[in-house]
Amino acid sequence: MPSPAPPSTILRPAVVADVPRMAAIINDAAELGLMLHKSHAKLYEHLRAYHVVQDAGTGEVVATGGLSIIWANLAEVVALAVAPDQRGRGHGRRLVEAAVQQARELGIRQVMSLTYEQAFFERLGFRVIDRHKLPMKVWADCVHCPKHAACDEIAMLRVLDDVPEAPGPAPAAGGIALPVLAVEGKRS
Ligand SMILES: CC(C)(COP(=O)(O)OP(=O)(O)OC[C@H]1O[C@@H](n2cnc3c(N)ncnc32)[C@H](O)[C@@H]1OP(=O)(O)O)[C@@H](O)C(=O)NCCC(=O)NCCS
Repeated sequence: MPSPAPPSTILRPAVVADVPRMAAIINDAAELGLMLHKSHAKLYEHLRAYHVVQDAGTGEVVATGGLSIIWANLAEVVALAVAPDQRGRGHGRRLVEAAVQQARELGIRQVMSLTYEQAFFERLGFRVIDRHKLPMKVWADCVHCPKHAACDEIAMLRVLDDVPEAPGPAPAAGGIALPVLAVEGKRS
């Protein structure tokens, strides 16, 4: 007998009612050291930047991910997480493509990720880059990460060739200096 077709899902912008479930999916993965925790407050604050995948049958949110704008030419895929029993069904791909499309519509030419999932992001057209060349602003959240002094995440970048370079000043370049400075600043 053929196996039943997987339930259909909907990709849509997140709404406030999704936040508790989004936080649960993200923070379960964060407990395993795969990503940073997100508070409900942060998710509400940046909710317009997030999409969710919802099971059309049960209504349950099964995956989420967002896009954070770093600078005129750079945005970051953030808080990308698929519920463990829903992985390998294309939800992660759809969420990254939604974030990339959002960047394209905003006129942002490059999309990056800090990740342990190199093979997944390579499938989606991202390439490994030297993370020390990323702007300092990227590292602002790292001060909240227990691994900040020994970060082993891989920096990956996808260039959107159909989006022109935005004019304007370049951001200050720099790697893990910012979290170290922030920790030192806290002591004084
Ligand atoms: C990483 C993650 C988002 C991937 O989502 P997913 O829905 O399972 O991935 P998809 O089904 O969309 O996979 C897309 C493609 O990547 C491949 N892929 C996914 N995970 C992979 C992995 N760990 N290694 C190699 N390839 C992988 C799939 O085979 C698929 O390939 P295809 O081009 O042949 O279709 C998901 O595993 C997850 O939530 N992990 C825990 C949290 C996490 O690490 N988030 C990333 C933070 S940056």
